[in-house]
Amino acid sequence: MRNADVRVGLLGFGTVGQGLVQGINLQSKEISRRIGAPLKIERALVQDVKKKRPVSLPELSTDARDILEDPEIDIVVEVMGGEHPAYAYVKQALEQRKQVVTANKLLLALHGLEFKALARLTGTGLLYEGSVLGGIPILRTIQRGLCGDRVEQIEGIFNGTTNFILSRMYDLGEDYLTALRLAQEAGYAEADPTMDVSGFDAACKLVILSRECFKVDVCLEDVTISGIEHLDKRQIAREKKLGRIPKLIARAKPQKAAIRVGVEWLPDTDLLSRVAGVQNALSLRTLIVGELFWRGPGAGGLATGGAVLADVMEAAERVLMERDETF
Ligand code: NAP
Ligand code: HSE
Repeated sequence: MRNADVRVGLLGFGTVGQGLVQGINLQSKEISRRIGAPLKIERALVQDVKKKRPVSLPELSTDARDILEDPEIDIVVEVMGGEHPAYAYVKQALEQRKQVVTANKLLLALHGLEFKALARLTGTGLLYEGSVLGGIPILRTIQRGLCGDRVEQIEGIFNGTTNFILSRMYDLGEDYLTALRLAQEAGYAEADPTMDVSGFDAACKLVILSRECFKVDVCLEDVTISGIEHLDKRQIAREKKLGRIPKLIARAKPQKAAIRVGVEWLPDTDLLSRVAGVQNALSLRTLIVGELFWRGPGAGGLATGGAVLADVMEAAERVLMERDETF
């Protein structure tokens, strides 16, 4: 084990940032052993340092320079959300050759191609496992496990908030606004929940996954998007009598015209109809392996924090390798 810490700066310390720290606290000795050096969260950027938080950190700051311009910080974890100022912060971190981890699907859907090019140019790492499907470790699986295969179809449930709302409306007859409030209280929803219920959040994830799976430059304009706002509990109750279960389904094929997010009414024989609550699911059809299916928690602090943690550990290994090369 090396003595020098690998130092991490967080941009944001809300649901996901705190979930990451909780995850590290649960496994701290083992994580440091696996990396080969102690992992230290140096400080986090927030809007309000006085806000009460269930998880604490010794140092919070409202000035992004305390993280971006601190030469001791090796890894920048962007978990603040939104396009701006996150865009400028991630760009600056990559330019300064810090390892970057982000869970921000909006930012990646809008600027991921530019960030990837910049990371290649500066020779630094850009990792984003937490940006799609919460705790399901799918990006590494696609990048490594399916590296020789060809994905022919993506289908799945990519938003935990809407699946939670639809499940409660279907199972309990709850109304839309009550279910949405519960999803917000659980930390599943985006800061602006319109992103979830309009289908836009699922579309961002579909863009990121389509790029990974099909190796094409898909963008948000290529996705036909509709959400769940138009559904009410009476319509759901009527369809339930006919054996039809509402799910917000994301679908894509390599042809750009076939990329869409919208409500589908599934029979109970469809595997996706049984994915309930905050769970997400992904079904891939590939040329060599065939049909694959994953299911797991799609949102929430610990689930997403676990995915971000895997990226932080990979970034830490790169930091240590670079240090070894310098000496
Ligand atoms: P959140 O709970 O709203 O936390 C955001 C954090 O960023 C807060 O600590 C906030 O500070 C800080 N922040 C926001 N804007 C800032 C600004 N302009 N300057 C300084 N600090 C700022 O959000 P979250 O749920 O953790 O989500 C973070 C990111 O992860 C988003 O991109 C989201 O899409 C993604 N994500 C979330 C989940 C999930 O289940 N929640 C799952 C996967 C991915 P204060 O605390 O002081 O307000
Ligand atoms: N708001 C998102 C969801 C968070 O509900 O799926 C996880 O990306």
